[in-house]
This record gives sequence, structure tokens and C-alpha cells, in this order.
Amino acid sequence: MNKENDIFILGIESSCDDTSAAVIRNGVLLSNVIAGQKVHEAYGGVVPELASRAHQQNIVPVVDQAIKQAGITNRDITAVAFTRGPGLLGSLLVGTSFAKGFSLSTGAPMIEINHLQAHVLAHFIQEENAPFDPPKFPFLCLLVSGGNSQIILVKDYLNMEVIGQTIDDAAGEAFDKCAKVMGLPYPGGPFVDKLAKEGNPDAFKFAKPRIPNFDYSFSGLKTSFLYFLRDQLKENENFIEERKADLCASLQKTIIDILLDKLIKAAKENRIREIAVAGGVSANSGLRNALIETAAKRHWKMHIPKFAFTTDNAAMIAISGYFKYQKGEFIGMDAVPFARMDIKA
Ligand code: KG4
Repeated sequence: MNKENDIFILGIESSCDDTSAAVIRNGVLLSNVIAGQKVHEAYGGVVPELASRAHQQNIVPVVDQAIKQAGITNRDITAVAFTRGPGLLGSLLVGTSFAKGFSLSTGAPMIEINHLQAHVLAHFIQEENAPFDPPKFPFLCLLVSGGNSQIILVKDYLNMEVIGQTIDDAAGEAFDKCAKVMGLPYPGGPFVDKLAKEGNPDAFKFAKPRIPNFDYSFSGLKTSFLYFLRDQLKENENFIEERKADLCASLQKTIIDILLDKLIKAAKENRIREIAVAGGVSANSGLRNALIETAAKRHWKMHIPKFAFTTDNAAMIAISGYFKYQKGEFIGMDAVPFARMDIKA
């Protein structure tokens, strides 16, 4: 490999419970290594202190593997991009400190990345010998994850505006919290998705929020689901077991309806037909199908990322770093992580 004029960006992601490192060469992905953390399963949610300890154990081997898989050495890295926020502070500290150490030892400058912006920019990850048809600006991106539900107007790689967001729970939280009530493991989203395939989506009706603009709310749905189950269990203690598939299908349909209602409104009012989806919940098969159907009906060009790029990964951090590198946006050694961070314009 002739590396002299190439730009190699090392991406590091440690905002929640996945330790990930990736290498991108001139915008093309060479490696993307992800180490998950099984330790949280027993607790029904991510335990911040355990997450940061697991990141400490994982970060060195994960980065090492990403660099080896890319067929380069530490010295070839042009710049190191790391997630500065939002996320769990203890987890972010591990990635930030590692980036500083790497920068000090190799001389590669550091680039800070906003995790939410990176989820959107995941659409621009290019892989060797794979089709590449990224969204065209301006586009709308529905960002749905465990911590966020937003509609983002994307004007350029680094120019984004949140035009709608949840005022309480995120869509992923609605999946996970309702799944927990049904006794499903954490995170419940994928289990609801699987069970929903065998259920009737119109079996039960749950409350849908009535809030203005393009904002979302999911806490009412969670309460309505909980009260409905409580009432049914009084009549039949086996209700959840007997109707689990129908419950999952109806819950999933309600969440999808809520998400799509505002997305359609935002697309109409902004006169945009270039639509993208990002974040862990975009792995949901019902949501994917609904988006494809809506796109066909409304003549949208729909962009759904590959599964591996929807959940937390460092490839999206590295590609974001590549765009910032081109603009010369570096950060110094005094960089500290932020638990909260808005998408910047
Ligand atoms: O973006 P992500 O990996 O990270 C966080 O925000 O933490 O999103 C995780 C969320 C969880 O709430 C999980 O239940 C949800 O994405 N999720 C799903 C599916 N796969 C992951 N929700 C519904 N259906 C799925 N297939």
C-alpha cells in the first residue's frame, strides 16, 4: 500500500457500552472493531461504573486490532477522532484519555466528534467494493436510539439543525421499558421486534401523544401500556404470556406510527423528499418496512444504513473525523468530554 499521500483517520467510540475503533483511508473504511459489554445484562440496563471499567479493559486491544486489520501502524495515522459527547461521562473519559495518549505518542492531531452528528454521518461511510449512494443535501434524518429521538435537518456534513425531538423518553426507551414490563431481557427492542412478527399489530390500541410541531413524546405510551397490562392481569394472570406476540406487535405499531407521523409532517413542511434514518432503533424491521412503504407512497428517496452502522460504532466517528480534518477542525489537549452536547451548526 502506498501510504504517503493518504489520510488515515482513527475513530474511537466509547460513549455508552460499546468500545469501538475504526480506520478510514481517504474516506473509505478499512476496519471497524466493536467490543460489546455483556456485564450489563444481569442488571437490566447499562451500569455506568461497570461500563467505564469495561472500556478501560477493551480500548487497547480494540484499537490495536483496528489498526492491524487496516494493514497499517500507529505512525501512519494522520489524525485521531474521538467521541466527546453526549454519553456517559465515565465511558467518554476512557475514549478521550486514550485519544490524548495516542496523539501525544504519535503526534497525530485530535478531532472531537459529536456522537449524534456521527450517527447521521454514518450514511457517508464508504466501503471498498460496495455500492455507495449517500443522501444528497439537504435531507431529513430521523435519529432514533436508546437515548434520542430527533428529526434533524441536514444542510451539509457539519451543518445540522434539530427541528424536532422528544420531550421525555426516547423511542428506544419506550421499546426497552415496555419490554421490561413484559419480562423480556434488556435491551428489549430486538425481542419486541422478533415477537411482533408473529403478532397482530391491531390487537390492542395504546395512547398516542398530541404535542405540537415536530416533537415527540413517549412517556404517555409507556404509562398507557403499563396500566393496560395491570388491568388485564387482574382478569387473567397469564395475559402477558398468552398475548405476548400481539402485545409486541401492537406496541411496535404504535411507536412506528408516532415516529412516522412527525417525520411525514416534517418532510411535507420542509418540502424535502430525501429522507434518512439512523440510530439503534432503525434496526427495527417493522420501522424499516414502514419507511420503505411510506417512501414509495410519498416519492421519498429513502436511505437506511447497513445494520452495523446503525448501532454505536467507530466507523461513523472516523468518517465524521475525515470531514472535520478536511476543514482543519482540530482540538487541543485540554479537551474534556461532555455528558450533554447538542448537534452544532
Ligand atoms: O443507537 P443505540 O445502539 O445506542 C443507544 O442509544 O444506547 O440504540 C440502542 C437502542 C435500544 O433501545 C434498543 O432496544 C434499540 O436501540 N434497538 C431496537 C432494535 N435493535 C436495537 N429497537 C427496536 N427494534 C430493534 N430491532
